[in-house]
Amino acid sequence: MEDPFSGLADRYNSTGTILHQVIRYELVDRGISEHLPGPPARVVDVGGGAGQQAIPLSRKGHEVTILDPSPKMLAEARRRLAREDAGVRRRVRLIEGTGELSHETLDGETFDAALCHGVLMYLEDPQPMIRALSALVHPGGMVSILTKNAAALAFRPALEGRYGDALSSLGADRDRGRLGVVTRGDTVEELSRSFEEAGLEMERWYGVRVFTDHLGERMPGTELPEVLELEWEAGRTDPYRSVARLIHLVGRKGPIQERFARN
Ligand SMILES: C[S@@+](CC[C@H](N)C(=O)[O-])C[C@H]1O[C@@H](n2cnc3c(N)ncnc32)[C@H](O)[C@@H]1O
Repeated sequence: MEDPFSGLADRYNSTGTILHQVIRYELVDRGISEHLPGPPARVVDVGGGAGQQAIPLSRKGHEVTILDPSPKMLAEARRRLAREDAGVRRRVRLIEGTGELSHETLDGETFDAALCHGVLMYLEDPQPMIRALSALVHPGGMVSILTKNAAALAFRPALEGRYGDALSSLGADRDRGRLGVVTRGDTVEELSRSFEEAGLEMERWYGVRVFTDHLGERMPGTELPEVLELEWEAGRTDPYRSVARLIHLVGRKGPIQERFARN
């Protein structure tokens, strides 16, 4: 299988300690924790990459499967896991494969939760992935998606003083991200419809990075706890959450809707 992320893996994996990534992982972790049972819950992280979100879940006692098509990202996950204690290592399983074919790759196995963070923006059509995520959870299980907010693309360039770029981002559905590639955004409204079509009931959505998205490579300072509280509260409050760079949606599969997910 061709590695879809090999050209971006090193750069992406090296950004984990900059402020905007720290905020992303912490806020998404808080969001997930509001909906996830356990520990130990059984979680599959589709496109889980180097384990940035999955390894902290394993540290909390959850059992996590990282499913990713990129051997390079999985190799980095293996390296990071080697630094963890035996319990954390034991609770993480790494499997090579794409989300869309996960049902076959995982032999129909189902989970308490399926996560898919920072992946939909690389896919032209999000619907097959959302259906696959729904099929990965049992009735009552949760699906968590994090992706780029198409409704607010002009904010980053405008706040960075790139007014021409901001102007052309108004009404666009994609832009060039920090890794240098053009990726797609989605809206909460479109994704809610996709959830419904896949048999998932939308439980809650959060905005991620309302006030700090334009800070580039800035590292966290002593203000981090305050920034995190500000971003967490704003990300759950209208109208602030609607202009966040990323949207985090959590859905739940209902028992009656299970038949939709199989179609
Ligand atoms: C930006 S990284 C995000 C990694 C991790 N989820 C995170 O939040 O840090 C995108 C990941 O999606 C994976 N990916 C790309 N296409 C995919 C697909 N069709 N199915 C599953 N994963 C995919 C890439 O290999 C890469 O590891």
